[in-house]
Amino acid sequence: MGARPVSVLRWRPMRAEDIDGVVDVARTAFPDHFEARACFAERFALFAPGCFVLADPVTAGVKGYLVAYPWPLGAIPPLDSLLGTLPDEREAFYLHDLALHPDARGLGHAGPAVRRLFKGLRALGGQEVALVSVNDTLAFWRGQGFAAVAADDALRRKLSSYGPDARYMRRAI
Ligand SMILES: CC(C)(COP(=O)(O)OP(=O)(O)OC[C@H]1O[C@@H](n2cnc3c(N)ncnc32)[C@H](O)[C@@H]1OP(=O)(O)O)[C@@H](O)C(=O)NCCC(=O)NCCS
Repeated sequence: MGARPVSVLRWRPMRAEDIDGVVDVARTAFPDHFEARACFAERFALFAPGCFVLADPVTAGVKGYLVAYPWPLGAIPPLDSLLGTLPDEREAFYLHDLALHPDARGLGHAGPAVRRLFKGLRALGGQEVALVSVNDTLAFWRGQGFAAVAADDALRRKLSSYGPDARYMRRAI
């Protein structure tokens, strides 16, 4: 396999002015799972340490984002909904989205975002991260150290709203 092309894009903490760019990337990455701008703005307001963007350092254009926040294991936040508040505990986290603009895929940017998130959560005393794999990304998430776990009936019902290939996955921090 040949070397990957060099990319100028870099991950950095999300800022309030990035939200519109985040929403644009979300629209292209998850065309079947609409989430309102307010959902992204709320996650950022509630837990900025779990929000990162992949951006061009010169133009500041957003080409990717990662959003995660404290959330109980075995529970999935409803899509396109405001959370209101987060649990006080900083042990279990939910990786809500990792998405790259199509132009920014295949360049090796995904792993560094996950590593950056885990480093930050470890420093907060985090123990585990869960997510819902969609878009045929089971193998991708396995490559990032996550494993699919069996879902009980309640979890299965919630997963069904994410599409037939949705799987609940977890990884220890
Ligand atoms: C999933 C996504 C973030 C991966 O980004 P990417 O730029 O392709 O990933 P990278 O180039 O950093 O690749 C990282 C590794 O994962 C592998 N990989 C990427 N997508 C994969 C997939 N769908 N299945 C299996 N492996 C995959 C790459 O081959 C690479 O492996 P390597 O390190 O052994 O070379 C990107 O495809 C995306 O934004 N998709 C749309 C949004 C989405 O579905 N997000 C996940 C929702 S749960």
